[in-house]
Amino acid sequence: MYLPLNDRIFKVIAELAKIHNIEVYVVGGYVRDLLLEKKSKDIDILVVGDGIYFAEQVARVLDAKHFTIFKTYGTAQIKYRNYEIEFVGARKESYRFESRNPSIEQGTFEDDINRRDFTINAMAISLNSDNLGEVIDIHGGINDLKKKIIRTTGNSDIIFSDDPLRMLRAIRFASQLNFTIDEQTFEGIKKNAYRIEIITKERIVDELNKILLSTLPSYGFILLDESGLLSLILPEISKLKGVEKNEGKTHKDNFYHTLQVVDQLRSRTDKLWLLWAGLLHDVGKFQTKKFQPGVGWTFHGHEVVGAHLVERIFKRMKMPTQETMPYVKKLVMLHLRPISLVKEEVTDSAVRRLIFEAGDDLDDLLMLAEADITSKNEQKVRLYLKNFKLLREKIIDIEEKDKIRNFQPPVSGEEIMQWFNLSPCKTVGDLKNKIKDAILDGIIPNERKAAIEYLLKIAEELNLVADENKINWEK
Ligand code: CTP
Repeated sequence: MYLPLNDRIFKVIAELAKIHNIEVYVVGGYVRDLLLEKKSKDIDILVVGDGIYFAEQVARVLDAKHFTIFKTYGTAQIKYRNYEIEFVGARKESYRFESRNPSIEQGTFEDDINRRDFTINAMAISLNSDNLGEVIDIHGGINDLKKKIIRTTGNSDIIFSDDPLRMLRAIRFASQLNFTIDEQTFEGIKKNAYRIEIITKERIVDELNKILLSTLPSYGFILLDESGLLSLILPEISKLKGVEKNEGKTHKDNFYHTLQVVDQLRSRTDKLWLLWAGLLHDVGKFQTKKFQPGVGWTFHGHEVVGAHLVERIFKRMKMPTQETMPYVKKLVMLHLRPISLVKEEVTDSAVRRLIFEAGDDLDDLLMLAEADITSKNEQKVRLYLKNFKLLREKIIDIEEKDKIRNFQPPVSGEEIMQWFNLSPCKTVGDLKNKIKDAILDGIIPNERKAAIEYLLKIAEELNLVADENKINWEK
């Protein structure tokens, strides 16, 4: 695929490069993706000279409404149509050991290409009149694209030590593109893995997210594990690895099981936080593993410990804790519930409770639980999947009948206090809970009149008398 030189963006840039007699190139991910025949909306423009000045000229001619200068980085960005066009002046970088932020000085085209991480990211397309549209490939990126290899542009030890984020980028690109990592490059990652500590958690999570969203996330996570990075970033996941044997009994390797679950989920969804729930669903197994003589290996309560660990991991990794963390925590906490229903004879009240507890996240929970089936016994898998289908049908049935999802108590605590002349106390909560339980257990329907009648009955047993004049039976 060739650069669309007829496109107004490239036409204007090439014309201005000629007028101002400045060397200008398209570089980085846009060129890589173009050669992979993928459309990218991010265009990086390398200017040999003052990148910000040149960007100003381009913004003016394009009449771009969104133009931003990032003084600290010496870059400028134009948003035009659906594109984000980033301009940077050619530079040489030198790094200090304790920081990934380089000190920057002006450089030549070659200096700039040589500071880039991987051969497939270090190709350029000229926007200069003497070789317009020519691909300049100093490091053999085209060949590596053909061979599907991630390789550093130079000494991998220096490239990773300079900017340790690149170790995660290597693995992320391998996972996204289904490429292998060149042997020496991978050695460089192993050697410098410990340097990941200078990278901010937000950037690490950003790369993990991209790995989770690649077609086969397990590939990326296996590379993370083999490189030594996983035990530094997510030790809780790394500890799931391994199989123990006692009295001739083994348990499954929970690391590989987890990865299989994530892959199965990924084939059905692109919901990032559901994939995180898949990654963390068994995280509590490391701490709860026990061998019980005569019984075998158990992981009792791993969902509770796991839910607790979710909170810790989200905080440590500076991941969004507002709505996202409770969502992932809830799925981890409840992940065994659907499968236990599938194994047993399903009662309506158990299904009602599941609908009540999962609320709006019920469909995601079911998807997670279904992906959690990784048994090698095909007959067992078939049976579970069949029962899952029955469970889903039963859920639809009960939902239609009982409206339990996003359950709102038919009688409020305020009302109970008013009717029985009570001040806030434990009894009010107990009465409310008893009504809720009666609905979930199918003793009464999810209706106000039935709930009030039931309330009056259980209150009488506690010698509580209501002022019936205050009760409004319909709301
Ligand atoms: N780059 C680098 N080292 C980094 C980050 C970026 O050498 N740690 C260089 C690479 O040449 C890369 C270019 O800067 O291609 C642009 O970086 P970025 O936009 O972050 O990545 P892309 O390669 O465009 O890929 P993606 O958008 O998928 O992250």
